[in-house]
Amino acid sequence: MPELNFDKVISSLKLRLESIKAEEDFENISKEYLGKDSLLSEERKKLKDLSNEDKKRYGQTLTSITSQINELITKAQISFKDKYFENIEKSEFFDLSVNWHKDFGTYKHVLTSVMEEVVEIFSSIGYKVEYGPEAETSWHNFDALNTPEWHPARYESDTLYLNKELTKLLRTQTSTVQIRHMESNNPPVYIVAPGRVFRSDQLDATHSPVFHQLEGLAIDKNLTFSDLKGTLEYFVQQFFGTNVETKFIPHFFPFTEPSAEVLVKWNDGEWLEILGCGMVDPNVLDNVGYDKEYQGFAWGVGIERLAMLRHKIDHIKNFYENDIRFLRQF
Ligand code: DAH
Repeated sequence: MPELNFDKVISSLKLRLESIKAEEDFENISKEYLGKDSLLSEERKKLKDLSNEDKKRYGQTLTSITSQINELITKAQISFKDKYFENIEKSEFFDLSVNWHKDFGTYKHVLTSVMEEVVEIFSSIGYKVEYGPEAETSWHNFDALNTPEWHPARYESDTLYLNKELTKLLRTQTSTVQIRHMESNNPPVYIVAPGRVFRSDQLDATHSPVFHQLEGLAIDKNLTFSDLKGTLEYFVQQFFGTNVETKFIPHFFPFTEPSAEVLVKWNDGEWLEILGCGMVDPNVLDNVGYDKEYQGFAWGVGIERLAMLRHKIDHIKNFYENDIRFLRQF
């Protein structure tokens, strides 16, 4: 009796399984290949006419083909179901998270990074960071800082007062922190005070009614103007680079004597003022009850000014407008 070659059966089954469209088709295919009218059962019927030996061998072949077919159909059915659910998942996928412009990243505001850098320069040479309130008394903002009643800085046209009596105000300078710190700490003092200050100014290219300063104060025995010069020259070189020239010119501030302004020489040869400083006036030390043997120096630097010089920013309003195209540059 001619025995059937099942290779063709198997490959035709594979082709059929690949192109199945609906689940029910698996049942039909199963019937077709394994059911009572299938080729396999036809062949099985013939077994009884074979010799014992042939019956055994061909019987085994038919059994193994049956399980091969079963296995192919089961596998195909499993992967058909997997794909079916995968497609459902894909079609139902919905991302309800907000598109938060991931690619913008996070940036520090340029004023924050300049302030942090300046604080870091002074911290690295031993200065502690100190803070004070923005709403102040006129004692801390003016009187204790040796600023007489008649001084123009006290005019209402310059200072934002918080009461009629003009005893409360928004601080016009971080110098207030000098007083607050000395009132509650004994010398020696080495502090810097970063902060926001307020003035009754119109906005123009270099002035804003709100801006930032960093105050510095050093009080100890034997501090001299040379220490002041060395400290501030060190700062300028750390911030602007070692090839930058600085010069000190005489100036006036009520709370320092002598007082000076520090200028840096810009690329085009122009000298630009970056900070005010001086030896702390003995009246100020008296006002906070410090001993005569102590003396020292102080300075105040405008943070906007430093940022504008470093980054060649031509209008101060850029810092506050929060235009992402400006902010992203730093
Ligand atoms: N407070 C001054 C201002 O706002 C800046 C300043 C000058 C601070 C001299 C100081 C100083 O400590 O010694 O213009």
